[in-house]
Amino acid sequence: MSNKYEIGIVGLGTMGSNLLLNIADHGYRVIGLDKDKDKVEALRAMATKNSNIEATNNLEEFLKNIHQPRAILLLVPSPVVDAVIAEMSSLMSPGDMLIDAGNSHFKDTNHREKSLKEKGIYFFGMGISGGEEGARFGPSIMPGGNPEAYEHIRPILEAIAAKVNGEVCVSYLGPGSAGHYVKMVHNGIEYGLMQLMAETYHLMKKVLKLSNDECHEVYKEWNKKEFNSYLLEITEKIFLEKDDKTNNRLIDVILDVAKQKGTGMWVCQDAMELQVPIPTIDAAVSMRDLSLHKEERKMAGLYLHGPEIKFKGDRKLFLQQLGNAYYASSIITFAQGMALLTKASVTYSYDFKVEDIARIWRGGCIIRAALLEAIMSAFHSTQLSHLLLDSHLHLEVRNKQADLRAIVEAGSRFGIPLPAFMASLSYYDGYRSEWLPANLIQAQRDYFGAHTYERIDEVGVFHKNWGQE
Ligand code: 6PG
Repeated sequence: MSNKYEIGIVGLGTMGSNLLLNIADHGYRVIGLDKDKDKVEALRAMATKNSNIEATNNLEEFLKNIHQPRAILLLVPSPVVDAVIAEMSSLMSPGDMLIDAGNSHFKDTNHREKSLKEKGIYFFGMGISGGEEGARFGPSIMPGGNPEAYEHIRPILEAIAAKVNGEVCVSYLGPGSAGHYVKMVHNGIEYGLMQLMAETYHLMKKVLKLSNDECHEVYKEWNKKEFNSYLLEITEKIFLEKDDKTNNRLIDVILDVAKQKGTGMWVCQDAMELQVPIPTIDAAVSMRDLSLHKEERKMAGLYLHGPEIKFKGDRKLFLQQLGNAYYASSIITFAQGMALLTKASVTYSYDFKVEDIARIWRGGCIIRAALLEAIMSAFHSTQLSHLLLDSHLHLEVRNKQADLRAIVEAGSRFGIPLPAFMASLSYYDGYRSEWLPANLIQAQRDYFGAHTYERIDEVGVFHKNWGQE
């Protein structure tokens, strides 16, 4: 081993080793570090055929072999990030870069950046999306941190990122935790879109009683239209997959309990703090939570009866309405995520270029979709305050709202839970309402707690001794 590696990777799990191979494929020399000897050996076996690759389980050897200033990517599980940073930073030098490429909470990234700055080490929070395949052949990369230090790793990141029409799906996003914040919002949108799809499946399966093959056909058809997206593409395929154990369709033997690693919940928590409504994403997190209570749902179903499901309408029309409702709601979901980014940009001084975020989400990541071209164009005008006000996309939603209403109505009529569709429609209706019944809430607050209210005809704050002459 010699001092010849341009970048190091800590954590040789699925993501770490695939990124390492991706980097090596692009002509960069890369060294990996892991405490697990088997993982190190697996990479060393490849190193015999590829001189760009090396691996070790010795931290000092690892650090000694990376060009200075060092660029080191961390791909370790969130609970051990602090321990790994502590161990490594004591042996690193001023000017080195440590890039946390896991899904860390952006507030943790802020603390880590601040404490490493005191040692002269640049700490980066960097979102990577695209799963295993993305890591290996081109992910969407969302980096944030010091802009000058970024220049040092920019060529490597641009080489390994996904490309769309020759444009790279990576861009410097802003200081501090900007990259992790954008990845968190990406995941919130991911949750929202997945829940919307789950609701379309629920209607197809329980109302139209479609078979798995028929569901496959519907998603395949949708995916050909402007709705085209990675999530639709995999959903279409899921319905054909066979279970090795039973030879039945795998989808039918998967337990209806949805897990999460927390990023969806973090988005909702932060959106609440910033007072940016993202109700479709909130509904998605709540439904994953509700799904956890399998036994309780089973018991409650014995008591809490709903309406009988007997569909008598035009099935073809219903599917067409469902597709349009899905598309309109996806635009609304993206609009909520983009609104959160816009607010966070100011609150946390990230100074986001929302157009760039849409640009790097067009390829490599889980939420990549044809729709992102239109979203990117919408934010090309820096004056756009909200995606639903875009001259093209507002028409898409406005023209499809009747279908969204029809689907929400059907869900209510048949007792099918459609919280993401309902929240999307209510968001649309709330956002376009000049008047909302918030005056009543203000009156109640003032009545029971003297919290005061404002008036429509006079500036100031007022209080009434309610019920007294
Ligand atoms: C991605 C994904 C990924 C995500 C996992 C698990 O962009 O590649 O967003 O980073 O964290 O898919 O997410 P949940 O376990 O929370 O569903």
